[in-house]
Amino acid sequence: MKLKVTVLAIIVAAITSCGGEGKKEDKVSAPVEEQKVAVETDPMKDKGIGPITSITLGEIDQKMADEGKAVFLAKCSACHKISKRVVGPALAGVTERRTPEWIMNMILNPEKMVVENPAAKKLLEEYLAPMANQNLTEAEARLILEYFRTKTTTSED
Ligand code: HEC
Repeated sequence: MKLKVTVLAIIVAAITSCGGEGKKEDKVSAPVEEQKVAVETDPMKDKGIGPITSITLGEIDQKMADEGKAVFLAKCSACHKISKRVVGPALAGVTERRTPEWIMNMILNPEKMVVENPAAKKLLEEYLAPMANQNLTEAEARLILEYFRTKTTTSED
């Protein structure tokens, strides 16, 4: 009986030490994982990649939003609706889940965004079709951003 306990103790010790080594290996790759998670879980700090680095928003400007709607209908509605997924994601509430800079960079620089920005890359993996560059000016992209600000998650098309 006593011998059995000793043998068991040795086995337990062996298993535990193996586990320890495994953990050490995990630690080596941990920083990379943490970095990835940080970008993915905090989209409201992610400005994306492109010409827009900083935007300050004031009160919603309804005239700009109306002009943005017209550009959106002409250039984006083939793939997007506000309240329904089509070729691309539904865009209701997009300003609540992305920064203004990220949204404008997605409009102005989608080719690079879906390759280099983790959040955009994830969207491409889900939607499979790549977001098209509609060659808008920064001013036009800004108008569309204003339109999006008027469309919350409960808005109709
Ligand atoms: C050819 C179809 C197509 C056109 C045209 C298009 N998009 Fe997209 N868009 C997509 C797809 C698909 C995605 C998801 C990412 C991907 O798969 O590349 C996307 C993603 C987005 C996103 C990110 C949405 C989210 O949930 O974070 C925004 C914002 C966006 N598009 C805005 C626009 C605007 C504004 C226009 C017009 C200037 C436009 N798109 C034109 C297909 C399109």
